[in-house]
Amino acid sequence: MNLLDLARPEIRALAPYASARALADSAGILLNANENPYPPPGDSGQDLNRYPDPQPAALKSRLAALYGIDADQLLLTRGSDEGIDLLMRAFVRAGQDRVLTCPPCFGMYALSARIQGGEVIEVPLIETESDWQLDVEGIQAAPACRLYFLCSPNNPTGNRIPTSQVLDLAERVSGHGLVIIDEAYIEFSADESLAGQVGSVPNLVVLRTLSKAYALAGCRLGAVIGSAELIGLLRRIIAPYPLPTPSIQAALQALDAPNDQRHQLEELDRQKQRLVLVLKDHPAIERIWPGAANFILVRTRPGSALVSAAADAGIRLRDQSAQPGLNDCVRITVGRPEETDHLIQFLRSWSP
Ligand SMILES: Cc1ncc(COP(=O)(O)O)c(C=O)c1O
Repeated sequence: MNLLDLARPEIRALAPYASARALADSAGILLNANENPYPPPGDSGQDLNRYPDPQPAALKSRLAALYGIDADQLLLTRGSDEGIDLLMRAFVRAGQDRVLTCPPCFGMYALSARIQGGEVIEVPLIETESDWQLDVEGIQAAPACRLYFLCSPNNPTGNRIPTSQVLDLAERVSGHGLVIIDEAYIEFSADESLAGQVGSVPNLVVLRTLSKAYALAGCRLGAVIGSAELIGLLRRIIAPYPLPTPSIQAALQALDAPNDQRHQLEELDRQKQRLVLVLKDHPAIERIWPGAANFILVRTRPGSALVSAAADAGIRLRDQSAQPGLNDCVRITVGRPEETDHLIQFLRSWSP
């Protein structure tokens, strides 16, 4: 079965839009894109008057090397949010196709599916004694879906999904669906990415982002990793110039400083361990899921009291009560040492 047979027929039939930069490189006298020939005030050699390369080769090859894949297996996107949206638009026929999610999970999977007119099938994670896990049997019993969204480490529960479960699912649904594994937080865990598997598992798609461990949330840069055919298909529907020049430059700089990133990850882990100790000891915290990412999920009753008391102390936490299974749960992102000091000071003086 060819993966492209699962795509919407009208998307398969589209001829990609050929932008000026895609048709010709940016050498010579550029009179082909209706740009202003003068750089804007403040431009320090960035050429912001010029449209950016739609898929900048230097950044693509840096990320392909980082993720251990070929450059043609990667599409650069405006954050993984855009990757999620492109997959919906390419594969989900409004009123016909289903998208499976495993809540509690990142809300954009269901929102994007609904915007596209897809039906969302929810197979909630199972809460175990110690953690959360996929309901493998529930997923097997669910009606056939076009897209299956998994996330490891998962937001907001922090649990990881064993590689074997992801690959088994991809094999089981290969006739009718794609399995998307969102690895937004993988750099915070010791897990190995599934990116290297996309060459041998055609219906597997991996989402990565520079928003979290690479500290570039403001640049909006993510990547869809999949078979070259899938990437070619998504290129037909992505905006002609999705990536702003300053974002591309900032990403190249960040990728040139791997030691800075490693130090940040180590520091964040130290702060996380400090917080875990305080939360475990706290009489009002009923349950804590430290997880494998840069956040901690806790349960305290009522969760809203923690969120509002923290807000009064100038600290913003995220109430997760609206998610299935997460009554009175609050997600706490790990911050800098001084932010952790404030949070710990607040927690020591707080009781609901
Ligand atoms: C699991 C997960 N996936 C994707 C995203 C979106 O990330 P990006 O900034 O790359 O769009 C987030 C953001 O919080 C997330 O938690």
